[in-house]
Amino acid sequence: MKTYLITGGAGFIGSNFIQYLFKKYDKKVFIINLDSLTYAGNLQNLEVVSKYDNYHFVKGDICDREVVESIFKQYDIDYVANFAAESHVDRSIEDPSIFVKTNVLGVQVLLDTTKKYWIDGDIFIKGKKFLQVSTDEVYGSLGETGYFTETTPLDPHSPYSASKTGGDLLVKAYYDTYKMPVVITRCSNNYGPYQFPEKLIPLVIHNCLSGKAIPLYGDGKNIRDWLYVTDHCSALDIVLEKGKIGEIYNIGGNNEKQNIEVVKTIISTLQRLLPSDDPRKGKISKKLITYVEDRKGHDRRYAIDSIKIKDHLGWVPTIGFEEGMAKKIQWYLDNRDWLENIVSGEYAVYYKKMY
Ligand code: NAD
Ligand code: DAU
Repeated sequence: MKTYLITGGAGFIGSNFIQYLFKKYDKKVFIINLDSLTYAGNLQNLEVVSKYDNYHFVKGDICDREVVESIFKQYDIDYVANFAAESHVDRSIEDPSIFVKTNVLGVQVLLDTTKKYWIDGDIFIKGKKFLQVSTDEVYGSLGETGYFTETTPLDPHSPYSASKTGGDLLVKAYYDTYKMPVVITRCSNNYGPYQFPEKLIPLVIHNCLSGKAIPLYGDGKNIRDWLYVTDHCSALDIVLEKGKIGEIYNIGGNNEKQNIEVVKTIISTLQRLLPSDDPRKGKISKKLITYVEDRKGHDRRYAIDSIKIKDHLGWVPTIGFEEGMAKKIQWYLDNRDWLENIVSGEYAVYYKKMY
């Protein structure tokens, strides 16, 4: 049974990954989730697994060496999977400083502490792996053609992507310098359950359900390559199990969409899924779309070439965009409390009391 240290496991992708692992390995995994519970961390995402004996939650910051050390002292960790990050581009434009702290400094603290407990003399103990969960945004922006490959030069534009690039380069440096057993993954835009409603898709779903305007930045024609979150989770699991140490793996859905297309798909899917007597149904229409000022430094197009992970590790995405969108929207309809708690800030009030 493998022991995982998952950081940022109370966020969107981390919580999906923890649930994925428990399901895939029939609960025969031991998971420690280290999360500082920023505005984006929500323990409600993990209600199902929180009862398991082999799941432990530690509230703490990846920048806090003492907390990270205390975990390594207590547990023999096989895999570290670093999801912890400030993840929202618009917030990074408003205030970059916390992005540098968590996404650069935090990664360094995590690497350094992990190295201390995994190295024996000059040699790393066999079977260990440090996974840095990163993003296609480190490659910058594409024109109308071409794809990001693992050798595309790094060219980040936002403070978020610059800070993720800094973290990635530290991970690479720990491999180049110490031969630390690391792997880096760079994934395209995820969507699925438990996604915080500051990101495009859950924001649009929420605004449609509340009859609010849908803000589309610029001309609405920027392109993102969408991947359903469980397909990202299966890729990360394969990389931990079979990925070659020191390598980078791109992960993408081959699902390029303009933002306007995404919004139209959400509107039509909501129309289809809402019951005919639901009073919100009639109010959801393209009339809600409102073009607003563009994001500063807005990357035009992302598109991932995933040939390497497919050819070398046998990973394939399984959920198409229309199917994934229907699954995601149905989840938000079935979990209105989750969304309302977030929007009202109720979940944060609860944590203040508990932690
Ligand atoms: P998220 O914002 O939903 O979750 C981040 C989690 O990290 C939260 O639970 C938060 O409390 C925690 N956290 C933040 N700072 C911390 C700190 N200093 N110490 C401990 N915990 C901290 O993010 P997400 O969308 O789930 O993204 C997870 C990772 O995947 C990030 O590293 C992100 O860069 C990467 N990624 C995201 C996407 C995407 O589309 N969302 C795509 C590719 C890569
Ligand atoms: O590509 C991977 C990245 O995808 C991850 O690394 C990031 O953590 C994640 O947040 C995401 O970044 P984006 O900036 O692409 O995602 P976001 O949902 O913020 O925006 C998607 C597109 O929609 C982008 O072109 C901006 C646009 N947008 C976004 C919002 C929130 C709008 O037009 N209106 C909006 O209100």
